[in-house]
Amino acid sequence: MTLRPILLHPDPRLKKPCEPVTEITDALREAARDMLDTMYDAPGVGLAAPQVGLLKRLFVMDCVKDPDEPPRPMVLMNPEIVWSSDDRRVYEEGCLSIPEHYAEIERPAAVTVRWLGLDGAGHEETFEGLWATCAQHEMDHLDGRLFIDYLSPLKRQLITRKMEKLKRDRAREGV
Ligand code: NI
Repeated sequence: MTLRPILLHPDPRLKKPCEPVTEITDALREAARDMLDTMYDAPGVGLAAPQVGLLKRLFVMDCVKDPDEPPRPMVLMNPEIVWSSDDRRVYEEGCLSIPEHYAEIERPAAVTVRWLGLDGAGHEETFEGLWATCAQHEMDHLDGRLFIDYLSPLKRQLITRKMEKLKRDRAREGV
């Protein structure tokens, strides 16, 4: 198992639009596997490539919460939303790049996503509930957007200042 360090906000790499995946290389397969390991270890339900410093349109997710249900590790490349519901859902979101901060974010309750799989084939699925929220949150990362970008400038600045302090403290502790 290989864990990759998760970048913490603020970091310029978390603000950049990512490049589409044009070739499924061994390095990309390895990155996807490491990202799943890193996500499960965190633990989290989703992780986008820019969060580990890879500026490619790729994210992983597994929103299975019931421990009796088998896990469903998913790798989605070049994802696109082809339909979103008019129904909205509010969920208290967090992000592995902004630990210990949460905020209620409203998004479409269901989305149909089209993506390229590691098998090289195109896939399409309609996600609901946490899966829909997570897919939209992760796809935002690929456009350099974080969930705090939906908050008021004041709230966003407050979280950013706390994160700057956390990063300074961690750097000082050498962790
Ligand atoms: Ni996130």
